[in-house]
Amino acid sequence: MIRHFLDLDALDAETLRGLLDQALSMKRSRTFPAALRGKTVAMIFEKPSTRTRFSFERAIHDLGGHAIVVNKNDMQLGRGETVADTARVLSRYVDAIVARTLDHHTLVELKNHATVPIINALSDRSHPCQILADVLTVQETFGPLTHPRITWIGDTNNVFFSWLQACLILKLPLTLGCPPALFPDALKKQFDQNPLLTWAEDPLKAAHGAHIVMTDTWVSMGCLDPEAQTRLLTPYQVNETVMKQADPQAIFLHCLPAVRGQEVTDAVMDGPQSRVFDQAENRLHAQRALLLWCLQTPKA
Ligand code: CP
Ligand code: NVA
Repeated sequence: MIRHFLDLDALDAETLRGLLDQALSMKRSRTFPAALRGKTVAMIFEKPSTRTRFSFERAIHDLGGHAIVVNKNDMQLGRGETVADTARVLSRYVDAIVARTLDHHTLVELKNHATVPIINALSDRSHPCQILADVLTVQETFGPLTHPRITWIGDTNNVFFSWLQACLILKLPLTLGCPPALFPDALKKQFDQNPLLTWAEDPLKAAHGAHIVMTDTWVSMGCLDPEAQTRLLTPYQVNETVMKQADPQAIFLHCLPAVRGQEVTDAVMDGPQSRVFDQAENRLHAQRALLLWCLQTPKA
C-alpha cells in the first residue's frame, strides 16, 4: 500500500507518536539513515514557501536522496496539462511527490493517479507537515505523556484544521477563540459534540489557563477578501494582555510567516514564551521522519 500523507488522519495515534519519537531521536543524534539513497523526490509549488521548501530539500538531502523543486508555472501543469497526466508521468521519474496546492482537490487528484506517495505541503484545507513540527515542539516542551491545554486564536484556516485533527487523534483539549463569523455551523456541531473542544468568542477567555497559545496570519495565501478578514480578526491579536491570561509556563507558537503588528505583537513573537523559531526548525526534524515513513517499505 502506498503511504500518502494528505492529512494527519493518515496516521493513527501510535504511528504519529512513533514518527515524532523518531524525529526527536534523529534531532538529538544528528545521524540519519541513508534510506533515500538512489531516490528522487519532486516538489511542486503553486504558492510561495520558505520553511517548507528549504526544510524538505534539506531533509531529503540528509537522508541521501535528491530533490527536484519546481514552481507550477514552470511546468506544463501551468499551461493546462491535467493533474492526472502529471501524476502518471512524474510517477515514472520520481519516488515521491511533495506538493503545495491552491486547491486541496489537486492533491486528491495527484493521489488518485500517482503510483508514488503524495505529501501535502499545504493546501487551502490543511497543513499536516506543519502540525508534525508543532506537536514535536509541544512534546519537547511539556513531555510526551502530558495533556497540555491548547488554545488557537484567530482564523479557522488550514493550519487550524490540521491542529484540530491532531487534537482529535491525540485526544488533546483544544480551545478556539474566534469571531462567530469564522465559526461555521459544521465546526460548531463538532465542538458541541466533543467535550475536548471549546469555543470562546472572547480571546481573553480562550487564552485563560492555556499552556500553548497559537495563532496564524489573518490573511492566508489565496484569500479572496483580505480586508474583511482583517476587520473580523483585529480584536484577536495575540499580545501581552492575551498571554497574561495563559498559564505562567505557557508557550507561544506560530507556523510563520507572521505579520508582526497584526495577529501577533513583536513583544510576544520575541518574548520569553515564544518558541516560534524552534518550531520552524522542527519542520526539518519532523519531515525527515515523515519521509522515512512514506518511503521506507514496511517489513512483511
Ligand atoms: N509554515 C510554512 O509552511 O511556511 P512556508 O510558507 O514558508 O513554507
Ligand atoms: N495559513 C497560512 C499558512 C502559511 C504557512 C496560509 O495558508 O497562507
